[in-house]
Amino acid sequence: MMLVRGRSQSRDSARGISVSRDSLAARYTAVRRVSEALSRPLAPDDYGLQAMPDVSPAKWHLAHTSWFFETFLLKAFLPGYRPFHPQFEHLFNSYYDQIGVPFARASRGLLSRPTVEEVFRYRAQVDVAMATLLASVEEQHWPEVAARATLGCHHEEQHQELFLTDIKYNFAINPLKPAYRDDLPAAPAGAGTALRWVEQAGGIMEIGHDGAGFAFDNEGPRHRSLLVPYALASRLVTNGEYLEFLMAGGYERSEYWLADGFRAARERRWQAPLYWEKSDGRWLLFTLAGIRPLNEHEPVCHVSFYEADAYARWSDKRLPTEVEWEAVAQQQRVHGNLRESGYLHPVPASPGAEPVQLFGDAWEWTASPYAPYPGYRSAPGALGEYNGKFMVNQLVLRGGSCVTPTEHIRASYRNFFYPADRWQFSGIRLTDDR
Ligand SMILES: [Fe+2]
Repeated sequence: MMLVRGRSQSRDSARGISVSRDSLAARYTAVRRVSEALSRPLAPDDYGLQAMPDVSPAKWHLAHTSWFFETFLLKAFLPGYRPFHPQFEHLFNSYYDQIGVPFARASRGLLSRPTVEEVFRYRAQVDVAMATLLASVEEQHWPEVAARATLGCHHEEQHQELFLTDIKYNFAINPLKPAYRDDLPAAPAGAGTALRWVEQAGGIMEIGHDGAGFAFDNEGPRHRSLLVPYALASRLVTNGEYLEFLMAGGYERSEYWLADGFRAARERRWQAPLYWEKSDGRWLLFTLAGIRPLNEHEPVCHVSFYEADAYARWSDKRLPTEVEWEAVAQQQRVHGNLRESGYLHPVPASPGAEPVQLFGDAWEWTASPYAPYPGYRSAPGALGEYNGKFMVNQLVLRGGSCVTPTEHIRASYRNFFYPADRWQFSGIRLTDDR
């Protein structure tokens, strides 16, 4: 299950709960209002779109995040709470098999009811009840309620990111190429920075969450890991650099690809990253602001692990392991082109303490399979299904993207997707051996 750890104000030393009722209520409200603000640019017709099974309709995200609070907090801890609708437990359960059989993921776009208006009323009921619960829950239950409510806030932030990621995909298939927002700023002018290699001595490194603040259970236990010397690229791979791979016939040359990757590229007819399209000899990108000309200095984004790996082989380099990435990232404060920067799109690297762009812009594919750290055990009960049961067949991505909330990301954060997935804001950082 999730951890809520703090260094002071502990009400329960065993659980390490450090948050007050007022501050948790304020955090809850702030997170919920952000979800609603992200919805505002949508037209009513946009809320139900599901262009492929991996994406969810905006309406579903808004309801499912409320379902999480209703299921794990209100039904469990608020005496007399009456669920908004008896079928919502089924409709908006994502994957918690211990709660019941979830409604089929691929069919979420078929749910014209509840309407958008009903979903917002569902959210309002949950908000009122959560305010009551956080103010009134008995002291003996507070540590568990605080832990679950904190997890619920982080869960909603995860879905805020998915909300934007999924809208981009849902809009991209429309020939009208609608903009989610037409007021997004263009990338700052500049030619980016030259790629350099940041030398790392290696050695025995402590990896994993250090216990300060919130982390998901998959970020621990903190443990030692041995690293041989390596060098990390000073910035992400750019569109211009990736274009060279493409122009060199990279997508046709099997020698650069893993067998599964080459097969996926053939079957799915990949010729370029997702959202690239060529018009009159010019490359264009679909963005949350609509179609834009390809900026060669921006980080390449929306590539699969297979494409990232093939690009690295073509470059005679490799992708970093997640340990190599974290050993460097844990020495930096979290800053970068994250959601609050307002671009909602990767931007060219600007000078700074290298490596730059570790946080934000694009999630960085690593060469590491998503697997439990030594000593990891998922918690018993339905909330134990949050992360642990997905630890097979996926790769770890690090660092967050231009649609990740700043307070949601940290050096130990482990995201995970299947190697052929491209709809996430996923990019490439190279590594070299020493
Ligand atoms: Fe979820």
